[in-house]
Amino acid sequence: MKVLVVGTGAREHAIASRLADDVELYAYMSKVNPGISKIATYKIGDEGEVDKVAEYAKENEIDIAFIGPEAPLGKGIVDALEKEGIKCVGPTQSAARIETDKSFMRNLFEDKEIEGSLVYKVFDNTEDVNNFLDEFDKDVVVKPVGLTGGKGVKIVGDHLKDNEEAKEYSKEVIDNTMGGFAQVIIEERLLGEEFTVQAFCDGENLVAMPAAQDHPHAFEGDKGAITGGMGSYSDKGGLLPFLTQEDYDKAVEIMKATLKAIAEEAEPYKGILYGQFMLTADGPRLIEYNARFGDPEAMNVLTLIKTPLAKVCEDIVNGELTEVEFEDKASVCKYIVPDGYPETEYAGEIIEVDEEAIEELGAKVFYAAVSEEEDGIHLSGSRALGIVATGETIEEAEKIAEEAVKYVKGPVYHRSDVGTPELVQKRVDHMNEILNE
Ligand code: GLY
Repeated sequence: MKVLVVGTGAREHAIASRLADDVELYAYMSKVNPGISKIATYKIGDEGEVDKVAEYAKENEIDIAFIGPEAPLGKGIVDALEKEGIKCVGPTQSAARIETDKSFMRNLFEDKEIEGSLVYKVFDNTEDVNNFLDEFDKDVVVKPVGLTGGKGVKIVGDHLKDNEEAKEYSKEVIDNTMGGFAQVIIEERLLGEEFTVQAFCDGENLVAMPAAQDHPHAFEGDKGAITGGMGSYSDKGGLLPFLTQEDYDKAVEIMKATLKAIAEEAEPYKGILYGQFMLTADGPRLIEYNARFGDPEAMNVLTLIKTPLAKVCEDIVNGELTEVEFEDKASVCKYIVPDGYPETEYAGEIIEVDEEAIEELGAKVFYAAVSEEEDGIHLSGSRALGIVATGETIEEAEKIAEEAVKYVKGPVYHRSDVGTPELVQKRVDHMNEILNE
């Protein structure tokens, strides 16, 4: 079987590495990912030029294409590939609106009476935003309706001082048609702990993966700018130290109801559905969906997956998904990023990665936004590579990951606290406080 992985980052390296042993692997990426280039036949090109990707897939008689990032999904890459007879792990443009059009997503919850939503409103003018915020007595989250590469969401109490600043930012979003829509979504800010559930979907059936928790802030102690994610962990048993089986099951029920609703209102959804939830005093509430694996969370679950990913892909495209097995272990992923990230001046500089030493420790390297050139591995302005380790406990996995990080040299940093007992306990204590308020 020939499988094409579309995308250039650590998420796609993790996908490709789990396919490499079982399929003839191809990749379409925007620059030379040092990990993917070693295991796949590849073409360098813009993943957003969907017709060119489809042409490449057709030329190489690809059986299944696995779409990593959201941007090509928003541009209809699956529709273009399916037109050429290529089956896809990834939703069509219409079904991908669950991520690419937040107003579609929230309306779906309302129209289909799916549990786990929150107070929200969609606005297309600043006067209505201002009137709403003058009356609303809780802190809010301001979101562009479309895709902004993870950089458009601003939270009162985090990036924004108060609801007055929320008004100013809402105006900026509408005036600049940020994310491609002259609209803004204002949502209530929920209190609790965030968690991620990712699921394989075959249009009708959904198989959920172990839960994970990402760390969006740049620095230790959850300080600094919100980034694409600095690291993540998952626990033995598939839950998280603050997440009960009942909470997890409720989240999965919400995702199953969503899958059914997408099929009714758009098209059957095939691919990965990523649910970002907030565990609140009232249970899990849906913050947003992504139409792809999470990054870094993909690295946790794809390190643990036991069922061959190639088999899972076949089951997805054939609508025959039943079960997927994972190793019953904890995992910790730490992202290594250029010094100064997310505003970095170190783009272009070279890093040294001792892959052998990292593997000897039992950890794995997944390359992200770096490019392999003749003189070595060059940083870009974004996250460089993920290191993943597994263990019987989060603490054990964290220690291995932290040891492995030492084998990456250059102008880089990482969050040493991701997965440590202290930070995990802080999350548990925070959740207990919320529940006891
Ligand atoms: N971990 C955040 C994301 O994948 O969007």
